[in-house]
Amino acid sequence: MKMNLTQKIIYNHLDDEQKKIFLEKNGKVEEIDIKIDQTLTHDITAVMAYNAFEALELDRVKTEKSISYIDHNVLCTDHRTSDDHLFLKTVAQKYGVYYSTPGNGICHSVHIARFAIPGKTLLGADSHTASSGAVGMFAFGGGGVEVARAMAGLRIKLNMPKIIKVNLIGKLNGGVNTKDIALELLKKYSVKGGVGKVFEYTGEGLKHLEIPQRMTITNMGAEMGATTSIFPTDEITKEFFKAQNRLEDFIEFVADEGATYDDEITIDMSKIIPLVACPSQPDNIADVNDEKFKDLKVSSVFIGSCTNASYGDIKKAAEILKGEKVSEDVELTIGVSTRAIFLQLLEEGIIAELVKSGARITEIACGACDGIGGAPVSKGVTVRTSNRNFKGRSGTVDAQIYLVSPEVAAATAITGRLTVANNVISDIEKLNNILEPTEYVVDDSEIIKPLNLEEAKKIQIIRGDNIKPLPLNTKVPNELTIKVSLKTKDNISTDDITPNDANFSAMRSNIPEISKYAFSRIYPDFVTRAKEYGKSVIIGGENYGQGSSREHAAIAPMYLGVKAVIVKSIARIHKKNLINHGVVPMTFKNPDDYDKIEISDELSWNNMDEALEKGIITIKDNTKNFTFEALIELSEEEKEIIKAGGLLPFIKKIFKEA
Ligand code: F3S
Repeated sequence: MKMNLTQKIIYNHLDDEQKKIFLEKNGKVEEIDIKIDQTLTHDITAVMAYNAFEALELDRVKTEKSISYIDHNVLCTDHRTSDDHLFLKTVAQKYGVYYSTPGNGICHSVHIARFAIPGKTLLGADSHTASSGAVGMFAFGGGGVEVARAMAGLRIKLNMPKIIKVNLIGKLNGGVNTKDIALELLKKYSVKGGVGKVFEYTGEGLKHLEIPQRMTITNMGAEMGATTSIFPTDEITKEFFKAQNRLEDFIEFVADEGATYDDEITIDMSKIIPLVACPSQPDNIADVNDEKFKDLKVSSVFIGSCTNASYGDIKKAAEILKGEKVSEDVELTIGVSTRAIFLQLLEEGIIAELVKSGARITEIACGACDGIGGAPVSKGVTVRTSNRNFKGRSGTVDAQIYLVSPEVAAATAITGRLTVANNVISDIEKLNNILEPTEYVVDDSEIIKPLNLEEAKKIQIIRGDNIKPLPLNTKVPNELTIKVSLKTKDNISTDDITPNDANFSAMRSNIPEISKYAFSRIYPDFVTRAKEYGKSVIIGGENYGQGSSREHAAIAPMYLGVKAVIVKSIARIHKKNLINHGVVPMTFKNPDDYDKIEISDELSWNNMDEALEKGIITIKDNTKNFTFEALIELSEEEKEIIKAGGLLPFIKKIFKEA
């Protein structure tokens, strides 16, 4: 069988029995069950993942490499953050996990530089884990408990994705960034058009794209809901590994000649123009030069995040800002993605140029990307190079977030209006001459290596008062009468469910505390109602649970008694997280039924066990006196997980039986 990249990695990570079936069916299988080589977590999702791992009572992680990054909330405004870091450090030492210290960099940016390996699998407790696809990894996001499962050496099940070949031809013009390709794809596919798909890049245009540029594209595949995105390896990949002083990890990894795909598109990069994602969805795309932005006054600009804070990105922004001053109406915040890149830019004098222009350099972390520092003024317009512009994502609930490339962000910081780079520098093509270094600064001293088993056994895990045990669910009752505690609009993001700014992220795994704020920004009555009802159900619109992989968004409602969500459609990772915590995800068979149901309606079912098997349930709305059907689309294993009350009890059962 001629295989594309995705099929190759999947095939290589199946067991022998599944390999046979995969070949027999020419790759057209429904479900795959793959071995995971590497995992990653970050400080927001990690506490959950390691709490779950501890509950499995194993000595050590069973993956080739697992890495715990501290990058999201590194602001120690009280003891909680420091206590949580110490917990994560000791738990890493105990279980054979690498620990990347606060200040070492954003997980995906450090991972691709120091750990990613072509042809391997990576499961990360973060939706942008797909970033490492830029060097030919099959890298995808999941919930913390799923990562615990992978760390325990158990396989991960996925629906076999559809594989879309994206042919890149031509070359980007100066001042245009691969961010604009990502935004162009969002325009075409929307925030849910990538669900169940892998975007596999190829084409003669690749010879013009360096690895961090490719990573911007794989990173933002997450915004389309894609399972992942992947590039083949080539001479540029090899140069990247050489520059990172780990050539030994490079392999040639390309699709077979004649491999087939489920669909194919071509993007001529020379035709891509600077684009902007307008508030408050990443697929609300416009041309930066559009007349409608003429009078839009910008109050803050952020250049940073795992999407667009590479060496090349920051250097291009610095080239635009060189000799200029940031507009006095604008606050410019810059966060470099890794400590190594920061050191490199420092040595080259780039950081000094940025500071002279008036930029404020923040900590080497996610920071402003998820509202931890750099929050804009109330009702302000903020222009950002990050990947999400949901309401509240900047840390200011009523700010308007526009997503752009670093080139547009830098030009905008100077003018105070959305501006393309060629309006502020004369020789725009010189931006294309800014290349990645042939030798990166390499310094792994802030990555603490795992201890050997004997030393590890002596480690005491230190738990601060913010570390709370993972709440567990019970099996959903076969017969139940419950009330609707919430009815949401379309495109509810996990940020809407459990907010994520400096205040909230400091709570980390403290679900009793986090749950007090569930949906608080948009539906402030929800918590009171859910508590009053005890057990309840949420009604949702399209693309429910899009965005971050944050598991808290499934656990907090579960903790408040939510037994099921019935929605028009649901985002992949959030659906998985609900299942993993025993909450039944259902979709309306007839989406028009959504309109008939209201908050406080009483719903009942009397055959959940049978419905889980059949994949469909009849529910009666006792208040409105009508019945409707909802689909429960679960794999065989997911049914078992729901019946066990969640993934953790399910895994425990597997270990007990083994
Ligand atoms: Fe961090 Fe933002 Fe990326 S929160 S992992 S920089 S999407």
